[in-house]
Amino acid sequence: MPVQPDPAAPQLFTWEFATDPYPAYAWLREHAPVHRTTLPSGVEAWLVTRYADARQALADSRLSKNPAHHSEQAHRTGRVGIPGERQADLMTHLLNIDPPDHTRLRRLVSKAFTPRRVAEFEPRVQQLTDRLIDGFAQRGSADLIHEFAFPLPIYAICDLLGVPAEDQDDFRDWAGMMIRHGGGQRGGVGRAVKRMRAYLLELIHRKRADPGEDLISGLIRASDHGEHLNENEAAAMAFILLFAGFETTVNLIGNGTYALLRNPEQRRLLQESVVRGETALLDTGIEELLRYDGPVEMATWRFATRPLSIGGVDIPVGDPVLVVLAAADRDPARFADENTLDLARTDNPHLGFGHGIHYCIGAPLARLEGRSALTTLLSRLPDLRLAENPENLRWRGGLIMRGLRELPVEFTPEARSPHAPVTPADAPTR
Ligand code: HEM
Repeated sequence: MPVQPDPAAPQLFTWEFATDPYPAYAWLREHAPVHRTTLPSGVEAWLVTRYADARQALADSRLSKNPAHHSEQAHRTGRVGIPGERQADLMTHLLNIDPPDHTRLRRLVSKAFTPRRVAEFEPRVQQLTDRLIDGFAQRGSADLIHEFAFPLPIYAICDLLGVPAEDQDDFRDWAGMMIRHGGGQRGGVGRAVKRMRAYLLELIHRKRADPGEDLISGLIRASDHGEHLNENEAAAMAFILLFAGFETTVNLIGNGTYALLRNPEQRRLLQESVVRGETALLDTGIEELLRYDGPVEMATWRFATRPLSIGGVDIPVGDPVLVVLAAADRDPARFADENTLDLARTDNPHLGFGHGIHYCIGAPLARLEGRSALTTLLSRLPDLRLAENPENLRWRGGLIMRGLRELPVEFTPEARSPHAPVTPADAPTR
């Protein structure tokens, strides 16, 4: 049944909406908290915007992650899901499957992708952060998205997976293709994803013969009741770790820095606490940045497999449901002063990393990268400021992710890099 538009409803998915979706979400939360809409792709879906409904929907087993449950054929044409994954045969990953398959794969990856592995990675993330800032610190200006927020997570995840330094530029290019065309099927996204899969399969093959201490070797080694990941599963796992961990972290650094630059008092408090070497405000601050303007605007697709009701609205079987994390995390019924950035907020059960069995498996790595990026920026470039009027900044228009296309900044140039020169084998230098 086609959607009958409510004449009072705000327009969604326009340029103004991409710039600041929060007033539209406030209207939906109040007047149409479970709202059926036509997405720019033509697919019809339910948007869930209240915190309590969002939490319930994220944990509801009647909502499947498997696109085969979609009543329309949109997933066949690639209008639903990660661009290119269907053509590249990478569909069987955590965000597209339900228990018991999900339980098995998640247990296996959890054995390899442990909090300890992430914690041991901290010095490397700090080194990458410093290296990237070295690249522009003496210039006095930079585009923080292209020169910093974009490369940091891609090199970090490549390192963690065990992609050799000399191949990491290819990954950077493939990831660039995906971020530019995310949400659509234009251009060479399908080709980039296919190349990435071929490369990953080859790498898995090599690591099987000659394992190391990296995450891909860990994925190959991981076993659960005698079961291992086969090569296709390991490739799909590496792909989803890369895909889910890349643009999200770009946006944590981008949106987070932007929020701090637009809230000078909060930024001053954080800067002072970083200088004093304190971590409490940083800990709560990262969570608040995830709540206030988080990287994931809507959780990934879910499809009703049985009749269910969300917030009193009946959802027909086969209908897609999109849980709007950005709206839920500013629900005044859950968060006091919901539109205020308060880095010291402690009562903050935000949904920025999701909820339920699909809760973000990379949250510890994301927090580590976010902390390293923000503290290093604030301490090395203390007078960092926007070099562009906020109204002129462009936001990416995709459905799932929320992030800036560019973030031009200015600052007093650093006299010289405080870091030792890098040896070629040490890190990718660009
Ligand atoms: C700030 C950065 C990040 C944010 C905001 C974020 C957010 C999320 C969210 C909201 C979900 C749940 C999606 C849903 O239920 O539809 C999710 C799942 C996931 N994330 Fe993250 N993520 C981040 C970073 C990462 C990183 C660094 C990795 C890995 C390297 C990663 C890997 C994953 C994976 C594999 C899943 C699927 C888990 C499952 O289905 O069991 N994420 N993430």
